[in-house]
Amino acid sequence: PTAAVIIVAAGSGTRLGNAEPKAFVLLQMRPLLSHALDTIFGMRELVQIIVVAPGDRVSDARAIAAQAARRHDVLAAAASSTTSTGAAPTSSPVPSRTVTIVAGGRTRQDSVELGMDALLPSVDIVLVHDAARALTPAALCDDVVDAVRSTGHGIIPGLPVVDTIKRVADSGAILGTVDRSELSAGQTPQGFPRAMLADARAWTLQNGRFEALTDDAALVADAGLPVNVIPGHPLAFKITTPEDLERAEVILHAAAT
Ligand code: C5P
Repeated sequence: PTAAVIIVAAGSGTRLGNAEPKAFVLLQMRPLLSHALDTIFGMRELVQIIVVAPGDRVSDARAIAAQAARRHDVLAAAASSTTSTGAAPTSSPVPSRTVTIVAGGRTRQDSVELGMDALLPSVDIVLVHDAARALTPAALCDDVVDAVRSTGHGIIPGLPVVDTIKRVADSGAILGTVDRSELSAGQTPQGFPRAMLADARAWTLQNGRFEALTDDAALVADAGLPVNVIPGHPLAFKITTPEDLERAEVILHAAAT
């Protein structure tokens, strides 16, 4: 493969109010990580897949990945046999995709770094995706790969901000209203030419800026490199709170009926 997706799944998920690390919380009886893998298995682009798991959950993540890959193969085989005209398929039409599992770090940025260490030499486009954005459509991931390839820039999906955003002091007093026409709510997967992401990370490390930056696009832009926004998708929302999880349950339930 010439593209890779690093799924960062090593967060604790304390805001979800669950003892389980977030990627292992169940949604329709399957871990969020399993849903995130469904997305990546569904991509048109055959990508290298790297999952960054909590250090003590590496073997669990491996089992989840193996199960998701089997499930994907069964679904793909069933889809091809129903669309074929007569003859039964002789073998599984879609090869299982291998998934590399690595242990994550203390911060999201540490986890991305550990994921990058596992990239194959052939890879020149890297996507970083939050496991917590469990319902992201596969097509959005392919759009990001295509846009990185055609522009050579960093690419992130973003949605217009619908609320009016206030800057607020600790006291609760409003300091100002931000012009929302120039705001975009960033999502993942965030894609970059591999060298661009590696250079930006080296630059950020050297300048001690890591703690201030919450996503990969901020890090690349901070290093003075170009990052563009393409249209995001409502289903790429991040499952952070119990209400988000409830919303994801409702969406999946509605899709199944
Ligand atoms: O905490 P937040 O929701 O912003 O985390 C975004 C993503 O980064 C999640 O998918 C989480 O699992 C991942 N993460 C990680 N390693 C950390 C912290 C967060 O992989 N140390």
